[in-house]
Amino acid sequence: MDDKDLIAHAKDAREHAYAPYSRFKVGAALQGRSGKVYTGCNVENASYPAGICAERCAVGKAVSEGEREFSAIAVVGDSEGPCAPCGICRQVLLEFNPAMRVIMTNLEGDTRILAVSELLPGAFGKADLPNE
Ligand code: THU
Repeated sequence: MDDKDLIAHAKDAREHAYAPYSRFKVGAALQGRSGKVYTGCNVENASYPAGICAERCAVGKAVSEGEREFSAIAVVGDSEGPCAPCGICRQVLLEFNPAMRVIMTNLEGDTRILAVSELLPGAFGKADLPNE
């Protein structure tokens, strides 16, 4: 699937965002190597830290369905510039593929594409654990 289609999936998923507290809706679409696409949206909670970002929602769906290899993720929010993933999501994406392309965009179509490793330089990863 090309980037334009992946962004379209992320935009559709954004419509389902549950964001009554921040009112900032985010959608994500994760491209699996199998060809399947896994979408996600942010799901907030009255206990604020219990909320989950769109990117991790998509990763959870994919991994729970048996997919662990991802080539790209599109992220869409109504932000001033391209919607950038938070630090926790960068770490979670890095776990599965540091080279994953992160297609950041907004509703105006402003787009920026970087590898996860570029978004989280010097990251702690599985190779840093003694028993891995
Ligand atoms: N959020 C995401 O879902 N993904 C991002 O890339 C940025 C932030 C969510 C978390 C929270 O529900 C809302 O946006 C405001 O931070």
